[in-house]
Amino acid sequence: MEQTQVNKNINFVNNKQLFIKQIKASYFRNYKNLELNLSADNIVLVGHNGVGKTNILEAVSYLTSGRGIRKAKSKDLIFKKFDDRFYEDLFWGVHASVFAMNKTFEIGTGIQKNNNSRLVKINGDLVKQADLSKLVKISWITPQMLLVFHNGMQEKRRFIDRLINISNPNHVGLLYRYEFLIKERVKIINNFNSNKNWIDTIENDIVNLSIKIIESRKRFVSEMQNIFFRSDLKEDFFPDICLKIAGKAEELLDSLGKEKYHSKIIEILRKNRNNGISSFIGPHKSELLIFKRHSKQEIRYCSTGEQKIMLISLIFKHCYLMESIYKQTPILLLDDIIEHLDEIHRRALFEKTSVYKSQCWFTCTNSRAFNDYPASYKSIDVNKLQKDYPKKRELNYA
Ligand SMILES: Nc1ncnc2c1ncn2[C@@H]1O[C@H](COP(=O)(O)OP(=O)(O)O)[C@@H](O)[C@H]1O
Ligand SMILES: [Mg+2]
Repeated sequence: MEQTQVNKNINFVNNKQLFIKQIKASYFRNYKNLELNLSADNIVLVGHNGVGKTNILEAVSYLTSGRGIRKAKSKDLIFKKFDDRFYEDLFWGVHASVFAMNKTFEIGTGIQKNNNSRLVKINGDLVKQADLSKLVKISWITPQMLLVFHNGMQEKRRFIDRLINISNPNHVGLLYRYEFLIKERVKIINNFNSNKNWIDTIENDIVNLSIKIIESRKRFVSEMQNIFFRSDLKEDFFPDICLKIAGKAEELLDSLGKEKYHSKIIEILRKNRNNGISSFIGPHKSELLIFKRHSKQEIRYCSTGEQKIMLISLIFKHCYLMESIYKQTPILLLDDIIEHLDEIHRRALFEKTSVYKSQCWFTCTNSRAFNDYPASYKSIDVNKLQKDYPKKRELNYA
């Protein structure tokens, strides 16, 4: 029982570096009009199942680049009511006042009528999504992320590659190009009429990209390792995690060095090409392992609860890696994470988020979990938020 006591000596961070002061959402998911006025405090969204808690986190997640916490299609975000018809003439928007880099910025984002690409404005000026992500970074932990550990290697690679992309924004671009060229090469091999001279150039690009991807992943693993070794971030309740990216390509690059690896893979590619074989070794086949540093236990063999704790540990450390690069921790969204944690880890998580330097958002169905905790968490009863369903005629606005 002793260790479940709240640590009263903890230094709560009240002067957060990055937080949302106000957020408004219009025609977004189940909200026709939503407005939340906030302070730097961490937020707890409390409400029954299906009331719209995750939808609010999703609105927040559009305050940075990308496809949000659910990776949703833009048209699915548009407020739908009545007979589940899709109202073509509607659009969605999210607006927020965000405190970042010691200033307050007005951020607007959404889609317009008949246009599916997301527009972003900062202080009234139209900017690129990439500009938004330079200003506001957001990370999240969701129950869906746990499924990754049970899925195939491709999903695991994608999960880590997305984390890498946040600290090295070219990474996913390199992968897209690499995967595109692999497909192009197969097309050329299988098509008798295609220009075979192209294949030399494509194979050369494939190998160059494969080296860059392997090196970028390797750099990430060692950067994360450094964060886990940082003494100021040591903790008792969340285990150190090791990442390992292994495969034949990694082994070859390690043992041969870049130049010899290049000629070796080119040699393999040419040989396979002449035999009509399209497969070859490379970072598209790498194995990704996530395990506890001390016990060496791999995440997929851990219990669901342990996996959640390992995921929290991994994402928090990744947030600190982002801080070491961008001098600011990201806003952190924790969807449905609290309720399934045991008491020790729940309290340890509260302590972590209390000293965390940017705003954290929680969702839960019952605020009791937060009751006896002294840190200031602003609790919002999502059941009482006005969903303000429109009348049918209101939808025909011009
Ligand atoms: N585009 C949409 N328009 C209207 N309602 C939506 C839309 N997308 C999802 N919803 C509704 O939002 C609710 C789910 O909200 P969610 O935030 O996931 O709930 P929870 O509070 O459990 O996290 C569901 O009732 C769903 O029907
Ligand atoms: Mg939810």
